[in-house]
Parts: sequence; C-alpha cells; structure tokens
Amino acid sequence: MKLNIAVLAGDGIGPEVTAEAVKVLKTVAKHGGHEFTFTDALIGGVAITAEGTPLPQKTIDVALAADAVLLGAVGDNKFNALTPDKRPEAGLLAIRQHLGGFANLRPCTAFNALSENSPLRPEVTKNVDILFVRELLGGLYFGKPRAWNKETGEAHNTMVYTKPEVERCAHIGFQLAQKRRGKLTQVDKANVLECSQLWRATVDEIAPQYPDVKVEHQLVDSMAIHLMNRPRDFDVVLTENLFGDILSDESGVITGSLGMLPSATIGGKVNLYEPVHGSAPDIAGQGKANPLGAILTAAMVLRHSGNLEEEALAIEKAVNEVLAAGHRTGDIAGQGKSANVTTSEMGDLVNTALVSALNR
Ligand code: NAD
Ligand code: IPM
Ligand code: MN
Repeated sequence: MKLNIAVLAGDGIGPEVTAEAVKVLKTVAKHGGHEFTFTDALIGGVAITAEGTPLPQKTIDVALAADAVLLGAVGDNKFNALTPDKRPEAGLLAIRQHLGGFANLRPCTAFNALSENSPLRPEVTKNVDILFVRELLGGLYFGKPRAWNKETGEAHNTMVYTKPEVERCAHIGFQLAQKRRGKLTQVDKANVLECSQLWRATVDEIAPQYPDVKVEHQLVDSMAIHLMNRPRDFDVVLTENLFGDILSDESGVITGSLGMLPSATIGGKVNLYEPVHGSAPDIAGQGKANPLGAILTAAMVLRHSGNLEEEALAIEKAVNEVLAAGHRTGDIAGQGKSANVTTSEMGDLVNTALVSALNR
C-alpha cells in the first residue's frame, strides 16, 4: 500500500524520537513491499527560528496533502516569554485545527517488563489497558474571549463546548468501548462547571444507542486518584481537552514513563500522530530520550491510517521483547539505575526485533 507521511519533528527531543519512529516504518514498508514516502516540514520553535512563525503555510500544505501526519514535539524554553499565540505550542494547536481531528486516542498499556519501574505496585498496574479519548479541538484551549490585561492585572480564558462537539467525540468513545471491554468512563467537573454538565447529559442521552456499553461518570479530581489506585477498572476514558491532557500524562505513572505513551488523533481530514510527551528540553540533544512512545505512535499510524493491524502488532511485540531483554533508556531504568542504551540504540534494537517478528 501507499502512504504519504508528513513528518513534523519539531523541537527538543522531537527529532530524536521521530527518527526512530520513521526507522520502524521504513522497515515495515520494505518488508511488506509498501510504498511509504516521508515529507519533512517545520513546526514549533524551529519554524519560528527559520520562518518567523510556529506554523508556516508550507507545513500546512504538506500536512493537508499527506495521508498521515507524524509529529515529534514542540516547545523551547527560549520562547517562554512570548504570548501564547506566538509560542511554538501555538503551531501545534493550529495544525490540530487545520487537520480537524477531534478525538485524540491516548492508550495507556502496561508492559509487564516495566512493572517494577512504576512507583505503583506491580499488582496494581499489571495488564492495565486504558484508552483515553481526549476531545482535542474545544474547551479552554480554543474558547473566546481570552486575554491577559497587564494593566488591570486580569486574565481570562473561556471554556466552551457545543452539543455537536461533545456528541461526535462521545460516539467515538462508545464505538471504541464496544470493540474493547464495553466500559466507558466519562470524566468531568459537573459539580461546578456547566460545560461538564453538558458533557454528562449528552453522554447519557447517547448511551441508549450503545446498550452493550456500561457508562459511568467520574469527577476529574477523584478520577486522578482512582487512576492510581485501581487503573485496571478503566477501559475507555472519555473527557474534554484539558482534563484529558492532564490525566493522560498522569497515566505515564502506570506505564513507568511518559516516554512510553503514543497517541493518534482521528475524525478530521488527516489523522495526526504524536507521542504524548513534550520536547523535554532537560534531556534534548543527549541521546537520552526514550523513543518507544514515538515508535508506538508509528504503530498507531499503521493501525489507523494504513489498515496494517498485523504490522502494528508486530511493532508492539518488538517493543515488548526489547523491554523484556532489559534494554532501558534512563526514564525506564528504574530508581537509582542508569540507561544502558541511547535513543538510537533503543530504536535499532526495536528494529531488529521487528524484522524477526515480521519474518516469523
Ligand atoms: P515533557 O513531556 O517535555 O517532559 C516532562 C518530563 O518527562 C521531563 O523530565 C522529560 O525529560 C521527561 N520525558 C518526556 N518525554 C520523555 C522521553 N521520551 N524520554 C525520556 N524522558 C522523557 O513536558 P514539559 O517539560 O512540561 O514541557 C517541555 C516543553 O514541551 C514545553 O515547551 C511544553 O509546552 C512542550 N510540550 C509539547 C508537547 C507536544 O509537542 N505534543 C507535549 C507536552 C509538552
Ligand atoms: C499535549 C501537549 C499540548 C496540549 C501542548 C503542548 C499544547 O501538552 O499534546 O499533551 O496541551 O495539548
Ligand atoms: Mn500534554
């Protein structure tokens, strides 16, 4: 099959981890006789430096012409003083809007080989398999009015959701729950926020269309602790933009590292694939980044844009094997232990395991 992939590596560890994801995609292409093409484009801080804007028109054109967009990470401390609309992160939010995907799928799958890495006990994290469905185009991130008036010392942001925005995302959550373990946990702050009441009511209204899915509602503050105490109880977790951002990072505790988490955004013109983590300026440029979140993101490209489920599974299997063999970047080395591989060595190891998995 043919797949034209736009590669927006971005800032910090973005290019380091994306290179490893592209490596495994090339292996899958070579093995299966597929034609994958990769077109690089600038986003984030590197785009500000080169073009004066975090999302150049050329990047939008490349992304919209692609079958899938693979993004690394954006963000660079040297732009911290800029207003939100000028920062690298604005480029990410804008490309999400251009591509139009509203359902951000963020799986949290516990790898048994890492069960000792989580501060949670192995019996708590064993076999955890959660799929966060994070609404990606609404809420506080995009609501207007928004402003910081430095003279009056007042700042405001606006949380806005419309019923159709909630419905389209909820349907995705329900459909995914049907294909999984049939449970949907909707997370909100309905004891305080009208937007949350809209979410809760809309999900309840849709629920009868999916009689095989069991629905529960949780308030986001207590959900944060349920997630740590009893993560195995959750299947699909559906939530609005900001709550999903926070809870999905928190789920990195279950997997042993934020660097293990992939994501895919569906429902728009072109699917967008990005690891959950950011540009990690504290470790950038040192070969310390864990590329597995990006590599697992590549598996999601194959699954959701290439209809190549077997190959996606082969990547996930290869990751499992490499972890089981004890290979570790620093973030998953365990307390007081150091990395025994660099970013690219980890990518190479997965690639070698992938070649054997594909030939099996
Ligand atoms: P971060 O996710 O970049 O890093 C948080 C911590 O996790 C750091 O200690 C980092 O070293 C570690 N970490 C993250 N990914 C890792 C990996 N793959 N391997 C090993 N360790 C990893 O979050 P932050 O430090 O809060 O933000 C840094 C910058 O990234 C900010 O500019 C932020 O806006 C941006 N950001 C971008 C994205 C994105 O592009 N999708 C996501 C989150 C944050
Ligand atoms: C993420 C990031 C982004 C978000 C930022 C960088 C805009 O944290 O992808 O999780 O909040 O969506
Ligand atoms: Mn985030």
